[in-house]
Amino acid sequence: MSDLAQLETELLGEITQAANEEALEALRVKALGKKGSISGLLATLGSLAPEERKSFGASINAVKDRVTEALTARRVTLKDAALDARLAAERADVTLPIRESGLEAGRIHPISQVMDELTAIFADLGFAVAEGPDVESDDYNFTRLNFPVGHPAREMHDTFFFSPDQKGDRKLLRTHTSPVQVRTMLTQKPPIRVICPGRTYRCDSDQTHTPMFHQVEGLVIDRHANLGQLKWVLEEFCKAFFEVPHVKMRFRPSFFPFTEPSMEVDIQCSRKGGEIRFGEGEDWLEILGCGMVHPNVLRNCGLDPDAVQGYAWGMGIDRIAMLKYGMPDLRPFFEADIRWLKHYGFRPLDLPSLAAGLSV
Ligand code: DAH
Repeated sequence: MSDLAQLETELLGEITQAANEEALEALRVKALGKKGSISGLLATLGSLAPEERKSFGASINAVKDRVTEALTARRVTLKDAALDARLAAERADVTLPIRESGLEAGRIHPISQVMDELTAIFADLGFAVAEGPDVESDDYNFTRLNFPVGHPAREMHDTFFFSPDQKGDRKLLRTHTSPVQVRTMLTQKPPIRVICPGRTYRCDSDQTHTPMFHQVEGLVIDRHANLGQLKWVLEEFCKAFFEVPHVKMRFRPSFFPFTEPSMEVDIQCSRKGGEIRFGEGEDWLEILGCGMVHPNVLRNCGLDPDAVQGYAWGMGIDRIAMLKYGMPDLRPFFEADIRWLKHYGFRPLDLPSLAAGLSV
């Protein structure tokens, strides 16, 4: 066998044996690279006699072509094998359940959703949101709201008190959102129109009471704020919140130290089949307390009762959330049970707005 034929046999043999693409590339360089064996033979042609050069050159080129072809064919085979191996290794089980993205799986707590709904409704009526701390002074929670020291109404609130500090001041966990009224009047000039949603605390616990719960307070201070406006605002709120076209409301005289006159408000409902529906029926359900801000409260907060007057209301958020979304028990609100939250929670991007419909 000539040297050339032997070289070809060797190269073709090695090419068929090449285990992967890197090995194949090394073989290509070894044969056809600048310093490769075939390139080396081509370089010797110059030293041959013209006749010999012609026939030997043709033979080398034929070998070069066959080697190139073999390289290409082997490359295709190796690529296919590599793809097959990858497909076998990366097999996907299409019957496995899809894992939801965080945005799909997460849920907004009904309380947060209802607070967003309240904010959307009252923002549309021109109200801003005001906030205050959960740990309050006795002064803001009671005294300035016209609860005289030793007045029995203080006892009715089942207050959580902290131990007195060195000066003898006793902080407490606010028992209602009304101290945010005080803070707002002390820092803002009338006209004032705010709602104050937030956490409140009382030492009480059963099926419909939890030691921590939520309220929303409303406060309007203006020269001519009056009961007619209060009634209209509350009616508009109830229609928008419960998403009904009409709602009957009943204002009953009541007592709160910080309002005069004071009222409790019931809303019309039906209770057929154990289900509460608003905007129909002959039953009544109490939903909030309200009244005209007591002149003493205005004075205690630096306002002149002869120049301005105001109306206010306070409402339990947990209760109206239970009523709207048919949740029978209050306690799971605070149990952080993921199954409950999955059932009653809201999708993160379902932001309530009046334009888009509150709860759809
Ligand atoms: N703070 C009262 C409570 O917790 C609720 C309330 C009643 C607030 C009448 C008001 C109001 O602003 O005017 O029971």
